[in-house]
Amino acid sequence: MEAGKQVPGRVQGKVAIVTGGASGIGAETAKVLAAEGAAVVVCDVNDALGQVIVYEIKAAGGTAVYRNLDVASEAQWAALVAETEEAYGRLGILTNIAGISGRDPAQNIQTGLTAGGLLEDQTLEKWNQIMEVNATGTFLGTKAVIAPMRRAGGGSVINISSICGIVGSFANVAYHASKGAVRIFSKAAAIQHAPDRIRVNSIHPGFVDTPMTQPGHANPEVAKQRMDATPLGRFGTPNDIAMGCLYLASDEASWVTGSELVIDGGMTAN
Ligand SMILES: NC(=O)c1ccc[n+]([C@@H]2O[C@H](COP(=O)([O-])OP(=O)(O)OC[C@H]3O[C@@H](n4cnc5c(N)ncnc54)[C@H](O)[C@@H]3O)[C@@H](O)[C@H]2O)c1
Repeated sequence: MEAGKQVPGRVQGKVAIVTGGASGIGAETAKVLAAEGAAVVVCDVNDALGQVIVYEIKAAGGTAVYRNLDVASEAQWAALVAETEEAYGRLGILTNIAGISGRDPAQNIQTGLTAGGLLEDQTLEKWNQIMEVNATGTFLGTKAVIAPMRRAGGGSVINISSICGIVGSFANVAYHASKGAVRIFSKAAAIQHAPDRIRVNSIHPGFVDTPMTQPGHANPEVAKQRMDATPLGRFGTPNDIAMGCLYLASDEASWVTGSELVIDGGMTAN
């Protein structure tokens, strides 16, 4: 590389939609993709925080816009994807990161490695709410980008599952079920759309410090149990997960589809 010549970013020139982009893992992923050369559409239901993330991306020299999106709305997905394709002429990356734990703070008990309410206390209403955001939202987003990605000659869909999509625990059963759905949905979508060169992969974070886990990690007993279960001896950072998203979004992963990338400090290796 000649002195002074700019090194192209790892996702240079690509267009990315990032859901859950206002907070935690989604916010960091939006920043990392933008720093590596992508134009990023930051989506969330938290407009105030989402706009702050876009401001920060732009201040750092990146390209981003904020759009309100409830991932459980098929009509909103259709409008967002159409607007994005029209504005940028193509769409290459979707990271489905928006999610809810569904945890009732009053039930933040620690009965095993994770905290949450028990199966017998789970209401149907709560079950449906968690499934709607985490599982249905991922389905609707992936479905909405298939046609534009096909038109673009391919793309990369990255779905944030969890270690809770691989192993069971005392965390609420609906969260486990929703993340298990994301894991196997991603594999089926990967098979169906490999001929379109649309890659679909899932990422499985362990315990990451974000606003979602903050209530649990603020409880020393909960934090200690989780830390003890994490061989690398620290909680994950949003950047640990964002770097996995970056790899799967980039052409470095052009032969990777239907895979599950576990980023958990070694927890599930145990
Ligand atoms: N933090 C962890 O330890 C951990 C571990 C495994 C998996 N995950 C998963 O990672 C993802 C990000 O979690 P986080 O820890 O960054 O949490 P977070 O609470 O910081 O961020 C989640 C974001 O999703 C948004 N959101 C919620 N419902 C939405 C909807 N209907 N439409 C659009 N946006 C919506 C929220 O407004 C928020 O900005 C989630 O899917 C979560 O389940 C997190």
